[in-house]
Amino acid sequence: MKPHDPHMDWGMKNRYLSVFNKKSGRTIFYAVDHGYFMGPTTGLDDMEKAIHPVVDYADALMLTRGALRSAVDPWLRKPISLRISSGTSILNEDLLHEGLAVEIEEAVRLNAAFVAFSVMVGTPTSERDTILEFSRAVDQAERYGIPMLGVVAVGRGLNRDARYLSLATRMVGELGARLVKTYYCEGFERVVDTSLVPVVIAGGKKMPEKAALQMARNALDAGAIGVDMGRNVFQAENPVAMMQALAKLVHEDGTVEDAYAYYEELKAKG
Ligand code: 5RP
Repeated sequence: MKPHDPHMDWGMKNRYLSVFNKKSGRTIFYAVDHGYFMGPTTGLDDMEKAIHPVVDYADALMLTRGALRSAVDPWLRKPISLRISSGTSILNEDLLHEGLAVEIEEAVRLNAAFVAFSVMVGTPTSERDTILEFSRAVDQAERYGIPMLGVVAVGRGLNRDARYLSLATRMVGELGARLVKTYYCEGFERVVDTSLVPVVIAGGKKMPEKAALQMARNALDAGAIGVDMGRNVFQAENPVAMMQALAKLVHEDGTVEDAYAYYEELKAKG
């Protein structure tokens, strides 16, 4: 696990640490931002239902400003990671060719603890734009003491292996992210060890619950500081139980067997 960056002003540090569990030093972001390029994603048709009460068992909530305004109870006492990049939909061949879509003042108004931006490394069309726009967004975020969660986006046809992911993850840290969200892969230690900043993993496409817990366990064992999961939670048979099982794994260092048994137990109780 990478140490937290000590070179932060108090405000930045306070926002940054707000997403971590003080005891375990780890984090679980609940990602429900998919609609900004995928529309009404399975499991997110009713955003209010998808968010509450699952988010109670997470450490932070990652979403768009539209979802925040329309579906989140302002009494929520969880830090927000606000999606500030966009530009293309899932229908576009040039996937995730994104730019800065939400100015930093809006992130401040919405009380964001983090801002999140996707960077596409290795594609002919979107690489340069997303890198330059990401860098502009980092400048804005740093000015206001808001940490940037850099999201490694993987383009169609690119290999999600340790070679590619360590290159992209390292670049995103070099460009100024305070935390990087990337994908899990075989040999993930290399991705973590060569990153300049702590790393969390995205869940990716829905898989069986036990497999998703196993992937999270492997990532933590390889040095990830937490997870930023969406589909494997909100598309689970019981999302609230799945989030609690993840918390057992991440914060109590539970085994996959323990976490999965806990999931089954909670699911049976309904
Ligand atoms: C899209 C995102 C999503 O938030 C991310 O992929 C996490 O969700 P999932 O666990 O479903 O992959 O950043 O670019």
